[in-house]
Amino acid sequence: MCGIVAYTGPQDCAPILVEGLRRLEYRGYDSAGLAVHTGRGVEIVRAVGKLTNLDQALRKTPLAGTTGIGHTRWATHGRPSEANAHPHVAGAVAVVHNGIIENHVDLRRELQGKGVRFSSDTDTEIFAHLIHAEMQSGIKELDVAVRRALARVRGAYAIAVVHGEQPGTVVVAKQDSPLVLGLGEGEMFAASDIPALLAHTRDVILLADGDMAKITTAGAAITRIADGAPVSRDKKRIDWSPTQAEKGGYKHFMLKEIHEQPRAIEDTLRGRIDLDKADVVGAEIGLTEEIAKATGRVYFVACGTSAHAAMAGRYWVEQLARLPSTVEIGSEVRYRDPVFLPTDLVVAVSQSGETADTLAAVKAAKAQGARVLAVANVLDSAIPRAVDGALYTHAGPEIGVASTKCFTTQLAALLLLAVYLGRRRGTLNEAEARRILDAAWQAPAKMRDVLARADDIRTIARRHMRAKDMLFLGRGTGFPIALEGALKLKEISYIHAEGYAAGEMKHGPIALIDEEMPVVVICPKDAHYEKTFSNMQEAKAREGQIIAVATEGDDEVRRLCADRVDRGSIPPPSGRGSMLVAADVIEIPPVENEVVPLLSVIPLQLLSYHMADLKGTDVDQPRNLAKTVTVE
Ligand code: AGP
Repeated sequence: MCGIVAYTGPQDCAPILVEGLRRLEYRGYDSAGLAVHTGRGVEIVRAVGKLTNLDQALRKTPLAGTTGIGHTRWATHGRPSEANAHPHVAGAVAVVHNGIIENHVDLRRELQGKGVRFSSDTDTEIFAHLIHAEMQSGIKELDVAVRRALARVRGAYAIAVVHGEQPGTVVVAKQDSPLVLGLGEGEMFAASDIPALLAHTRDVILLADGDMAKITTAGAAITRIADGAPVSRDKKRIDWSPTQAEKGGYKHFMLKEIHEQPRAIEDTLRGRIDLDKADVVGAEIGLTEEIAKATGRVYFVACGTSAHAAMAGRYWVEQLARLPSTVEIGSEVRYRDPVFLPTDLVVAVSQSGETADTLAAVKAAKAQGARVLAVANVLDSAIPRAVDGALYTHAGPEIGVASTKCFTTQLAALLLLAVYLGRRRGTLNEAEARRILDAAWQAPAKMRDVLARADDIRTIARRHMRAKDMLFLGRGTGFPIALEGALKLKEISYIHAEGYAAGEMKHGPIALIDEEMPVVVICPKDAHYEKTFSNMQEAKAREGQIIAVATEGDDEVRRLCADRVDRGSIPPPSGRGSMLVAADVIEIPPVENEVVPLLSVIPLQLLSYHMADLKGTDVDQPRNLAKTVTVE
């Protein structure tokens, strides 16, 4: 996730672009840069680190001109460095890009074969060379060259392009990454998100996937990328305050990030699944065939939410790759005398890539000769730097302290890891792999269905917001989801909550259940349905207030949960929503077992969020917590 801005008009553009980038810094901040048409052609200034560094660089090398593009980067391909910072240049062409190009390896190889020399490790630079090659072949119009170049590219992008011989013109295009046009008086803007535009205009056009636009001071000519046909898009007036705009209109970053999960999963899977071969692309996940075959045990280390993702990963590795697997908490590993083997694949899961306890465990594993793979969200952070390979999640920066989109992208990444290991080791046949990968690829659409029920979940939250304690129960991969649901609730609402394996309830926690105790049961129609259903009946028999996460149309669960709501003081909601929640049942669509956790955690995130919000706690920055824990 990166931020792009573009401007053309009568004003000096560098300050406008930098200010726009400042509003997009939440999208990434490891490097930044501008390309401005200065009259001497397009000139660029780039700097590693936060925007203040770009400010300083611009003070040394000012860029004067009225047309330009800018970028703030969250690295995905190529470490954060000045060479990898955008804009990328080829001849007179300069490009900024947000997204991921899936066929970048093939295109780079092809261009190198034609003598092109790359000056960065990014996938973005490919755009610059492809567009430059089109212009060199005699194409005169920048938008035509961009359209022809885009026909070669597969993946997600929002791009802005300028050309040294075409002053006053910016060409933008989008597919699966956001891009908004800002309409001024005799000036035009484009940006990844609305906050970058609000200081200048409240009239915007949200481009659709497959749109491109040639913007000049006269306005925007919007066409389809595929065939150049003109399209018309409605203008929208934005009434949000700048703070609301930064959160995409949501009340909190956490809620925004919960809603970003489908996009984050798509970005994490993109380019890594080969559905034709029913396989995972090893080079994209930091593993090789040799390592997969030589692995005798998978040893996960992680903390907090990341440890819950690792627990789901263990189930998948055991089931799909038939490898012994264990999950250890970073802070425990470092103070034990752990035994690592040279045939261990240690998988360190950490969204920040900086957690001190996980890093210490990684060092202990390395010291004993184990091979270590990092699953991290922050490129080139301490843990990926310390290990042998990295599998990056592409969630983009997560601002809310309570992790949501980083968790689900970790799940997606670990499912890919398990499929890759299973395929290499011959324990997962092609048909099964295809079934799972196909289900993973379809999951974001189903996640959107669950998110569409967010308002109904607030009604359930209101009924239970005064609870002092809550239990979360689940079986199989539902167990780590129960742990994660309890952790989310504790973190942001300060309500005491415990997650348990549903089968463990009878060994103690059942003593806690009475009519005061809300019990959240993750009971989808998966391999463990009947057993989990009986656990729910047991909780119900002790008068527990059941909140069930169940598969659509499961009338048995609904009947079991129904009578409590009838007795409740707050009437069930009306309309379509009442069908879904009248019995404190939150439904998820039917999906293959392996992707259930991606869906079943969303109601728990939303339940915690709404309970916390109704109580009025500081959702994004809960007391006593830090986003990155670099101390013991
Ligand atoms: C998640 O909501 C928490 N803030 C916390 O448990 C977190 O997952 C843990 O500190 C590990 O962080 P990491 O993923 O950055 O290593």
